[in-house]
Amino acid sequence: MTQPDQGDIIDGVHYHQHDIVIVGAGGAGMRAAIEAGPSASTAVISKLYPTRSHTGAAQGGMAAALANVEEDNWEWHTYDTVKGGDYLVDQDAAEILAKEAIDAVIDLENMGLPFNRTPEGRIDQRRFGGHTREHGKAPVRRACYAADRTGHMILQTLYQNCVKHGINFFNEFYVLDLLMSEVDGIERPAGVVAYELATGDLHVFQGKSIIFATGGFGKIFKTTSNAHTLTGDGVGIVWRKGLPLEDMEFFQFHPTGLAGLGILLSEAARGEGAILRNADGERFMERYAPTIKDLAPRDIVARSMATEIREGRGAGPYKDYVYLDITHLEPAVIDAKLPDITEFARTYLGVEPYTEPVPVLPTAHYAMGGIPTTNNAEVLRSNTETVPGLFAAGECACVSVHGSNRLGTNSLLDINVFGKRAGNNAVAYAKTADWVPLPEDPTAGVRRLLDHVRGGDGSERIAVIRRELQEAMDRNAQVFRTDESLREVGDLIKTLRDRYRNVQVQDKGKRFNTDLLEAVELGFLLDLAEVVVYSARNRKESRGAHMREDYPKRDDKNLMVHTMAYLTGDAESAEADDHIKLDWKPVVVTNYQPTERKY
Ligand code: FUM
Repeated sequence: MTQPDQGDIIDGVHYHQHDIVIVGAGGAGMRAAIEAGPSASTAVISKLYPTRSHTGAAQGGMAAALANVEEDNWEWHTYDTVKGGDYLVDQDAAEILAKEAIDAVIDLENMGLPFNRTPEGRIDQRRFGGHTREHGKAPVRRACYAADRTGHMILQTLYQNCVKHGINFFNEFYVLDLLMSEVDGIERPAGVVAYELATGDLHVFQGKSIIFATGGFGKIFKTTSNAHTLTGDGVGIVWRKGLPLEDMEFFQFHPTGLAGLGILLSEAARGEGAILRNADGERFMERYAPTIKDLAPRDIVARSMATEIREGRGAGPYKDYVYLDITHLEPAVIDAKLPDITEFARTYLGVEPYTEPVPVLPTAHYAMGGIPTTNNAEVLRSNTETVPGLFAAGECACVSVHGSNRLGTNSLLDINVFGKRAGNNAVAYAKTADWVPLPEDPTAGVRRLLDHVRGGDGSERIAVIRRELQEAMDRNAQVFRTDESLREVGDLIKTLRDRYRNVQVQDKGKRFNTDLLEAVELGFLLDLAEVVVYSARNRKESRGAHMREDYPKRDDKNLMVHTMAYLTGDAESAEADDHIKLDWKPVVVTNYQPTERKY
């Protein structure tokens, strides 16, 4: 096609050109923009207003071995990250994460982030699950924090700095397609297509470097700490382009969601001394992790809680939750350090945490898997080849620094370290790259997608299919899994995909048509749930957050490898076996051979 210029409107489609196009305005996207903005024309496209991004819901802290309050170093942090991830972590990436953590915190401090302080004025640090001194001897204070709203403070600080750097934001624009064109025999990203919520217009953003920073997909589950918007659109778009997804079977269940709701109660509570108790008032984590107890990594704590409930020691009328007890903490400490989560307990459960234990249950929290990248945030098209000009960072990406189980406070760190790397590497790439020509009729794919969901006059409702998917994922693919449970949910997903073809969008209008976009998001949820379940069925071992009751042991001999899932053939037509192909990628081991994981 004749290549349009910046600002052109052709057949109602708006055309934009920026050196760097970033999809997603959470922590990773904005951290990348802060690096890119000063030296390259940078656009950030977001389905939300940036300050509503889900980074804002992260509570307890950001890990960095600053050693401000006790002895610590980045090597201990690396070790904890590798062991916490049950040895599926790429150890060279974990070293980068732990080493660059220190500068990442200082960067934020220089940008104006109001961290809590020690009496001497240093950044204060608190304990968090799995973070230890001397390779597991005792918990260490490594999490830098701003009360229990650290993510909120990071998001606000990054946004203010993006504004300072004159970043171009396109808010409430839903990116629905990644445009690829072949140059010199290689498929390269040319840009993205976005749907403008306010008008229903389509926009094409041509970029030399494209960064995906679109967050996770926790809405495949019903009980989740994730916001309604976390439907995995970015990961789904990359999947539909035939690019691989890595380690999708590993989904983290955060131990302390508010019972019945899934709203996050920060692990910072346990970092400040809170205790998990069963119906008998027993501190049951003493049995499961005698050394660090309630501060064991999340996979271990979530499994221990679920075991207590299964074995009849759950609390409440249905014995289906346990308690988080902070009644022994001074109210002044609670108010200073845990103000938000205690207010959540009062507001949503009517429980007064000063005097009553809070009912809690594991909640789907974080995708360890996602778009595979190098340590420089370059997207991989195979185990070794990258897609030139395409980058990913944050929860949508899999570097892999979290392996099969992320440590708390390593995700706010991940978005800062790898968001910054993505920004820098995207600029370096764009400096020497030529524009990749847009494909013929660049919005054709998105028009087809929208016409398909908008045009349907079937009887199926979006909310019904979504609820059935989420409930089945909670029942069958949560803390405990078996071949039978995964087969059951896999079969259901197939029927839901069939029914999705008959979904009816009731709003036929153009302006603020959230009904239409929810239908599109549901398509991504179905795709990703299918990959999660298929990858989980095929990993016949238990490792980190992936607990197979029919294969309860870790199998390092055969399965200390990453899963790489590829979409093959026609996704619409058949069962997962016919259109998903799995391959393996070696784990990078530098210093730490796998050992039994005791805490
Ligand atoms: O518990 C929390 O505050 C969550 C932190 C995290 O997921 O890193």
